[in-house]
Amino acid sequence: MDLSKITKVFSESIIREMTRVANAHPGCINLAQGFPDFSAPETIKNAAIKAIRADINQYAITWGSVSLRNAIAEKIAEYNKMKFVDPNKNITVTCGSTEAMLSSMKAIINPGDEIIIFEPFYENYGPDCLLSGASPRYIMLNPPDWKFNFERLEQLFNEKTKAIIINTPNNPTGKVFSIKELKFIAELCLNYDCIAITDEIYEHILFDNHKHISIASLPGMEKNSITINSISKTYSLTGWRVGWAIASEKITNEIKKVHDFLTVGAPAPLQEAAAFALSLGKDYYKWLGDFYQNARDILFNALKQTEINPIKPDGAYYIIANCEDYMERYNLQNSYDLAIHLIKNIDIATVPGSSFYADLKSGQYQTRFCFCKKEKTLQTATQYLKRIIHE
Ligand SMILES: Cc1ncc(COP(=O)(O)O)c(C=O)c1O
Repeated sequence: MDLSKITKVFSESIIREMTRVANAHPGCINLAQGFPDFSAPETIKNAAIKAIRADINQYAITWGSVSLRNAIAEKIAEYNKMKFVDPNKNITVTCGSTEAMLSSMKAIINPGDEIIIFEPFYENYGPDCLLSGASPRYIMLNPPDWKFNFERLEQLFNEKTKAIIINTPNNPTGKVFSIKELKFIAELCLNYDCIAITDEIYEHILFDNHKHISIASLPGMEKNSITINSISKTYSLTGWRVGWAIASEKITNEIKKVHDFLTVGAPAPLQEAAAFALSLGKDYYKWLGDFYQNARDILFNALKQTEINPIKPDGAYYIIANCEDYMERYNLQNSYDLAIHLIKNIDIATVPGSSFYADLKSGQYQTRFCFCKKEKTLQTATQYLKRIIHE
């Protein structure tokens, strides 16, 4: 029997595979998949329990509960400077930003359309393109500062370009796109009438005074953008599966339809708790930023003492390291072998660099560490990393 030709083209997620390999290796610290090993805020958990007890347990409005859409509109006007967002016209609440991305692509793509993707990229974007019928075109973010070539990007735009995906702060590089870069991308989007799909789930995880800018807030971009976010990273609630997509009314109407038939809706009581989470004040975001700045510094400093070369991130909670010399010493052929070697010999799980590139060779010497972990976990990881030099 012939099964889908599309799903044959991509494999299962390497990130989630690494978590399974790590779990099968007793004592291994999982710095592979990006989820916290500490508790989510008590007040948000209590809001969810309260909502369940109040019997908010049936389907929510398919495109999101009134309270959550109002909270999103309020937050996005203030933090993201997107004043145009009407809770009834511009918001679709989804099952995480994962679903927001796929529903958005399915809502805008026609056969033959192209989507531009910065690489290294979050691994879902490739399969998302294929599932929605788009052809991906790639533009490199070059280490160590992860800048891209403006001319090369301009050359990629053509009459088939339907969208460009921006992820800022970026997974896996930690790049925070600058205003100059975003203005350049916005101008291309407006010239070619193409949509900037922007994944901003790390918007509150910024270091060394970097600032987050939403491309949708730039002049003229409200009709040419889809802004995606979720509660997963900001509130340490990756398992709740509540996210959203914000776009013009015209685009939102199509996203709503795809979302309705894909999932009907995100979990109703958790939407109420998400509305509460979005109402948290500046103190919470200050705590979050300080917590991750400390976590980044611990892991970065620990990696700096080893034979591998970490690149300091400006945001998000990952560090890419170049491991070419180390791989040569142990005769490791590719980034997958490296990741398995690190699990078996150093007791630390990471994500092979190649999984973030279309051409596996581009990431063959890289591996990604995450630092969304308790300080104690990162201190233990620091001890384990010493094995890289003392083996
Ligand atoms: C860039 C990026 N987008 C989306 C996701 C998934 O987000 P969600 O849990 O909201 O589906 C992740 C998870 O690691 C991510 O790093």
